[in-house]
Parts: sequence; structure tokens; C-alpha cells
Amino acid sequence: MTARLIDGKAVAATLRAEVAEKVRAAGFTPGLAVVLVGEDPASSVYVRTKDRAAREAGIDARTIRLPADTSQTDLLGVIRTLNTDPAIDGILVQLPLPNGIDARAVIEAIDPAKDVDGFHPVNVGHLANGHPALVPCTPLGVMKLLRSAGIETRGARAVVLGRSAIVGRPMAALLLTADATVTIAHSRTRDLPAECRGADILIAAVGRPEMVRGDWIKPGAAVIDVGINRLPDGRLTGDAAFVSCAGVAGAITPVPGGVGPMTVACLLENTLTAALRRR
Ligand code: GUN
Repeated sequence: MTARLIDGKAVAATLRAEVAEKVRAAGFTPGLAVVLVGEDPASSVYVRTKDRAAREAGIDARTIRLPADTSQTDLLGVIRTLNTDPAIDGILVQLPLPNGIDARAVIEAIDPAKDVDGFHPVNVGHLANGHPALVPCTPLGVMKLLRSAGIETRGARAVVLGRSAIVGRPMAALLLTADATVTIAHSRTRDLPAECRGADILIAAVGRPEMVRGDWIKPGAAVIDVGINRLPDGRLTGDAAFVSCAGVAGAITPVPGGVGPMTVACLLENTLTAALRRR
């Protein structure tokens, strides 16, 4: 069997156009602040991408670049200013933060109503209760990809590989809310291949290049690859070995061009959601 390709770039383009249309209809300009501390090269690329996409959707994006030696006190001060700025609807602090800054304290300082990453404990709690408010962008994007590909979550066995706060945990909560039977597997899981073979929907979010092989996949399953790993030769690859998994799966996302573009599109949607609720 050869898997159907789930085209994240196309689904994301449609969502971005929808957000842009709703921004035009809103009668005001939503504001997004993206905070980057230091000069991590990957983070710099992500932040530029988010800023540009927001502007293209008619969102007033401001990127605030702070030096790597910014103190936690100064960063918390920047966030307090953004919390009270009426023109700002969304605040995103790009992770990871430099050593010496407590990411938890920073996330907890963000006004939950402006937390477009959905990382604040208030929003995490709403999600855990099955009442999603502002939801982390990557898992939200995965849910939209599943829906766009016509993949039924109700009653499906879903395995989430990875238990990070950014992807694995919120992903599992969303799938549970969508009536899947959910397993979270991780580096200490006893027999990872066997767990994965039980999945109708497999979400790979471990950050290990091509760890998931074709013989881990139930024939016909949907494989959603959240990983973006750079190989020594410079190529980007996912957490799933694409060719070997595509030979067994029913549907699969490519890397790049799968989940990545959805993350950015969902950030724009979250910014609009936060703006409409606030105004
Ligand atoms: N670093 C990696 N992914 C993310 C994300 O979704 N949001 C933020 N703020 N930082 C990240």
C-alpha cells in the first residue's frame, strides 16, 4: 500500500486565507507581540516566519528582540507592559529561553487571555478539562490536518509518541476530547514498536530523526509527523522514516510541508480568537 499524502502546506494556506478574510471583516487590527531572547538560529527563523505570516494576514505583528543576557526581571517587565497594552491581543515568547531564565515563570506572567501559545497553566487546565480555550498551535494544527484528511478520531486508537508540554501532552488532551482512545508513549515505554502498531492514528513528536519505521505502523494507519530534524548533510527529516512508513500507512504527512505550516497558521487563528474575545 502507498499512503495518501496529507498536504499541510495547502491546508495551512487555506486557513491563513480564512484568517485574513476574518481580520478584514473584524473592523480592527489584531496585534501580536513575538518576543525573542538571544540569537538561537532556529528560533530566529521561526520568529521571522511567524512575523511575516501575521503581517500577510493583516495582523499588526511586532517582534521584540532582546539580547541573550537579558535578566529575568527585565523580561518579566516587558511581558507586564505587553499585558496592559490595549493594542496587543497576543503574546508569544519563543522557546527555548537562554539559560538562567525560568521559562515557567515567564509563561505564567503572560495574561492568559493573550496567551496565543496556550502554554499558561490556566489554558492548559481548560484543555485538560475538555474545554479548550487558547490551544497550543502545533497540536491544534494536527487536529485540523486530521479533519481535512477525513480521518475519524471518534473511537480510533491514537498513540502520541512524546510527552512534551508543547506537543505531546496537549495533543493527547485534544485527541481525547475528540473521542479517541489515547496512549501517550515515550522514551521509557517498554515496547515502543508494539504500542505504535496498535495505533489507527500515530502522532510522532519525539525529536529523533526517522525513529519510527514502517514495521511500527499498522497497515492503513494515519501517521502525523511533528518532528523537524536536521541531518548532518543539512536535509530536514521527520521523526518517521518517510519512505518506509509511507509503504504501510494509509495517510502520512511529509516533512517539511506537513505539520510545520499548520503551526504558523494556527498561531494566526489563535491571535484572531484572542482579539475577538478581548474586544
Ligand atoms: N519553540 C518551539 N515550538 C514553539 C512554539 O510552538 N511556541 C513557542 N513560543 N516556542 C516554541
